[in-house]
Amino acid sequence: MLLVTGGAGFIGANFILDWLAASDEAIVNLDKLTYAGNLENLRPLDGDARHVFVQGDIGDRTLVDALLQRYRPRAVINFAAESHVDRSIHGPAEFIQTNVVGTFNLLESVRAHWAGLPADAQAAFRFLHISTDEVYGSLGPTDPPFSETTAYAPNSPYSASKAASDHLVRAYHHTYGLPVLTTNCSNNYGPLQFPEKLIPLVIHNALAGKPLPIYGDGSNVRDWLYVGDHCSAIRRVLEAGRVGETYNIGGRNEKTNLEVVHTLCAILDELHPGSPVTPHASLIAFVKDRPGHDRRYAIDATKIERELGWTPGETFETGIRRTVAWYLANADWVNHVTSGEYRRWVSQNYADTSV
Ligand code: NAD
Ligand code: TYD
Repeated sequence: MLLVTGGAGFIGANFILDWLAASDEAIVNLDKLTYAGNLENLRPLDGDARHVFVQGDIGDRTLVDALLQRYRPRAVINFAAESHVDRSIHGPAEFIQTNVVGTFNLLESVRAHWAGLPADAQAAFRFLHISTDEVYGSLGPTDPPFSETTAYAPNSPYSASKAASDHLVRAYHHTYGLPVLTTNCSNNYGPLQFPEKLIPLVIHNALAGKPLPIYGDGSNVRDWLYVGDHCSAIRRVLEAGRVGETYNIGGRNEKTNLEVVHTLCAILDELHPGSPVTPHASLIAFVKDRPGHDRRYAIDATKIERELGWTPGETFETGIRRTVAWYLANADWVNHVTSGEYRRWVSQNYADTSV
């Protein structure tokens, strides 16, 4: 059995759905159900005994101790985090609480549990920490991509809190011998992503005939990876990653934000010609830049490719088409997650614009 944290969020839910489509190994899913956690993501598993959902906080030692004692997982995969840079700018406290203090408490529970296991179970146990390339900071236009040895230089409260959690995970290996693995992935996109992030936000606004907000001049670069490919990389690292190592995950898909938005608009023109405003690109609106906006992220994925034989299955062109098709086919999901709290967020983050 696996203990997955944050499994009601975007990547965690994709991971659980993919895992249980291919394996009968059960998953206990511990998720606090913040605004980003949504049990509807896991609806295909309703009534499936292989998925046990527990609502709770990774920082709750009593609860986590009890779950470890009861289910005795062979691995813990930690997806749980506050994950949105813009929200970390408006309200960093929650990021420190979950990403730093929460990860620390989780590590303490796992360490105590692991220390009491028999030798063979100790050797087989893994704590896999899911992190981001944003811990490495921002690249200039001609800098080489981030490798596992790039120095950490986080720039936002989000990336600083993730960097702190990565350091704690590393320290628990070096100090206590906890068998940890860390992955640092580039920007994900795909089904079930909350429409506060660029790609689902643009699809959502374009379909509603609302402006498509582009921060600054739109030339910031991100390295996009289809979420299913991130999940296959995580499975591979869990299976064969070397204990104590970190693995960068990316799809070698560097795009400017403007390129991404134009691609989305072109696909929507083709697949959804009946939108209120077409061509969809006429909705592009340049808005005030994000404070401290990192210019460029890019991942060198050589280590995971060479050591573990992982390669992504989707190109950007195939993955982005699948993603648009998913959002078009799942209007109900979007309608549910964009009610209530989502509206408050949009009016706060885009207060100075007409978005
Ligand atoms: P998300 O915001 O969609 O989901 C996070 C989940 O964690 C939610 O279900 C939320 O309810 C849960 N959660 C938050 N605080 C919690 C707490 N204290 N205890 C238990 N559960 C809690 O995020 P995501 O995009 O799925 O990202 C998952 C992980 O992957 C994060 O650690 C993130 O840093 C990392 N990551 C994300 C990306 C990306 O592009 N989205 C890229 C690289 C790495
Ligand atoms: P985002 O999806 O928030 O991911 P991250 O900041 O973690 O990379 O943003 C991706 C890029 O898109 C980033 O450069 C910021 C930009 N962006 C916009 O231009 N407009 C928006 O409304 C949002 C949410 C993001």
